[in-house]
Amino acid sequence: MAVPLFLLLCLAAFQTTASADLLSEYAHHAVLDPAEKMKLFWTVDWDAETVSFAVEAETTGWVGFGFSTGSGQMVGSDVVIGWVKDNKGYLKDRFADQKALPPMDKQQDYELTGFQESGGKTVLKFKRKFDTCDSRDIKLEQGVTKVVFAYHTEDPVSETDIKHHVFRGARSILLLNSMDKRDINETGWSTFPLTTKNVTVPTKETTYWCTLLKGPQLKSKVHITKFEPIIQKGNEGFVHHFLLYECHGNFVDKDFDQGVDCYNIANMPYAKCQAASIVAAWAVGGEVFYYPTHAGFPLGSSDSPRNFLLEMHYDNPENLAGRVDSSGVRIYYTDQLRQYDSGVISMGVKTDEWHIIPPKQKSWMSVGYCTEKCTKSIMKSTSLPEGGVNVFAALLHTHLAGVALWTKHVRNGKELPEIARDNNYDFNFQDIQILRKEINIQPGDELIHYCKYDSMDRNKLIKGGISSRDEMCLDFIFYYPRIPNIRYCQSQAFGPSYKLIDKYFPDVNVTSVKHNPLTNMNIDWTDEMVADFRKYKDDVKNVFPICGITNLTTIADSKNPDLTVPIPKITDPLPPEKSKCAQANRASWTNCRERASLTCRFCTVVWHVMRCDWCSLVKRYGTTDSLYHMYPHVMCFDFNANY
Ligand SMILES: *[C@@H]1O[C@H](CO)[C@@H](O)[C@H](O)[C@H]1NC(C)=O
Ligand SMILES: *[C@@H]1O[C@H](CO)[C@@H](O)[C@H](O)[C@H]1NC(C)=O
Ligand SMILES: *[C@@H]1O[C@H](CO)[C@@H](O)[C@H](O)[C@H]1NC(C)=O
Ligand SMILES: *[C@@H]1O[C@H](CO)[C@@H](O)[C@H](O)[C@H]1NC(C)=O
Repeated sequence: MAVPLFLLLCLAAFQTTASADLLSEYAHHAVLDPAEKMKLFWTVDWDAETVSFAVEAETTGWVGFGFSTGSGQMVGSDVVIGWVKDNKGYLKDRFADQKALPPMDKQQDYELTGFQESGGKTVLKFKRKFDTCDSRDIKLEQGVTKVVFAYHTEDPVSETDIKHHVFRGARSILLLNSMDKRDINETGWSTFPLTTKNVTVPTKETTYWCTLLKGPQLKSKVHITKFEPIIQKGNEGFVHHFLLYECHGNFVDKDFDQGVDCYNIANMPYAKCQAASIVAAWAVGGEVFYYPTHAGFPLGSSDSPRNFLLEMHYDNPENLAGRVDSSGVRIYYTDQLRQYDSGVISMGVKTDEWHIIPPKQKSWMSVGYCTEKCTKSIMKSTSLPEGGVNVFAALLHTHLAGVALWTKHVRNGKELPEIARDNNYDFNFQDIQILRKEINIQPGDELIHYCKYDSMDRNKLIKGGISSRDEMCLDFIFYYPRIPNIRYCQSQAFGPSYKLIDKYFPDVNVTSVKHNPLTNMNIDWTDEMVADFRKYKDDVKNVFPICGITNLTTIADSKNPDLTVPIPKITDPLPPEKSKCAQANRASWTNCRERASLTCRFCTVVWHVMRCDWCSLVKRYGTTDSLYHMYPHVMCFDFNANY
């Protein structure tokens, strides 16, 4: 047995070396599949707008890798297939137009930059532009990117004779918003774990387990610099994601460590923590998180949390019994205090029963506002020389029905670059987006958070709430300098529900501001009712600001216009992103009438040889409808039709 063992060790050592080299060569990496058969390494060059990749696969045959829109299907994905044979590397840009060998693109946009085959592994290195201007390539954007991958154990005979894969998969990654951690010095950092304590994973498909945990005993203030997941060996398939919340308040010993099913948390003394600010978040495939070197999350200061609520999501689709888990998160901190304390504010729609989404809707938008009045009051005196706060990361969050979400930034009516966007939201992959450049928010700025939902698979209305079948519409922004005791800047609108009740259910009484009676009625949603509700929602002109503290305690409050503020108006929208590609390539002309609901941002009106700005036309002529009547031949050039 000695010889095989020796060989095995050699092989193992060799393999580790290959990965270790790639780890230092590239800024980011991700293991693509649970068995770690394929790994991805990459580096983003923002100036050249290119990404360099290395794909490592446990095969000496061909390797496939690419980008998919949406669900991770092979059909419709932009892929490369390559291999190493007789010391030569092969790689071709292809497009999977059907369930067959993806044909090669006429325009080859992936450049093979290196290759290696050794120790039973193949490494292919290649490079491409964010936007190749080829309609058969997928544009690489900020937010979640779905990657697809595959391999075979044999090299192909030729570029047109490639055997069907023996291994394939898909997963989400943050390609352009990952942390570059090559220059971080961790000397002198301390750590403590926050984990569940031998939880028996319930024999049901989905469990959210909520555990109250004590933070470390600290003599003085420290800064959290990093956190990373601790996943108990063997339980990788069960541990799906976790959120760590701050917990303020007083608790007794028996509240700690045991935990409860989060569905039953309402009566626990720590129930409120679930609505508090998030300290750390991780989901399947997520990575380690580092704070920027000039900021850290403070512990041991007067308004820092001393306790934490760990919300662990377990996935047990096979209903396996008796699985015990102690997974969680490891927090790293330093007493070498950094320049700024950081904090997290959640923006968007207040999570309560007045945030509702009718069933069977392909596309439904919810919008929450962090209003001028609120930012004026909470951000007025900070220690930044330029004033306000700087945002360095964002965690976009909805539950199962969410498909896309983004946050706009407005100053005196002028729209500034977006804070964050995710056009391919994946509930099963919620990682923190690192902003490419920090964004300064000034007192008086306004933030508008949009969430797009698909409720086609629901028969009942979806209400705002903490269960994953309920919905949320939030953006947790990570910022500095910390504003003590402020955890949210959100809004709520009661009008749409009240109007719907008035028209369709006049006998129903609202009895508490905490309870929307629509949420537990058996409603037969007619098209008319949905259309009315959509209109009531789109007509909202004033909202209740939820600015750290809420004054809404009575039904009279929820009907009191004096407690509302006007929603932000964008008078000067962001011009459409200029495409670097020849326009003909992206031509997507649509009749304006069909596009009437588009916001200004995505359209430029073109007719004859004149090029006009859609928004200024709308401003001049009123609605898009009247504009259409005036110029029936006006066509929209659709840059990025998302809303
Ligand atoms: C990291 O920091 C420590 C002490 O702060 C220093 O001694 C060490 O040389 C640093 N390491 C690197 C690689 O810069
Ligand atoms: C889980 O139980 C085992 C066996 O009783 C024990 O050794 C271990 O410390 C427990 N783990 C935690 C995190 O409590
Ligand atoms: C609603 O309120 C009215 C007036 O207070 C009352 O007469 C009626 O019985 C209430 N209806 C229900 C269903 O509670
Ligand atoms: C809301 O409550 C705060 C604190 O209790 C109070 O200062 C403020 O005046 C209230 N606002 C309104 C509009 O009632």
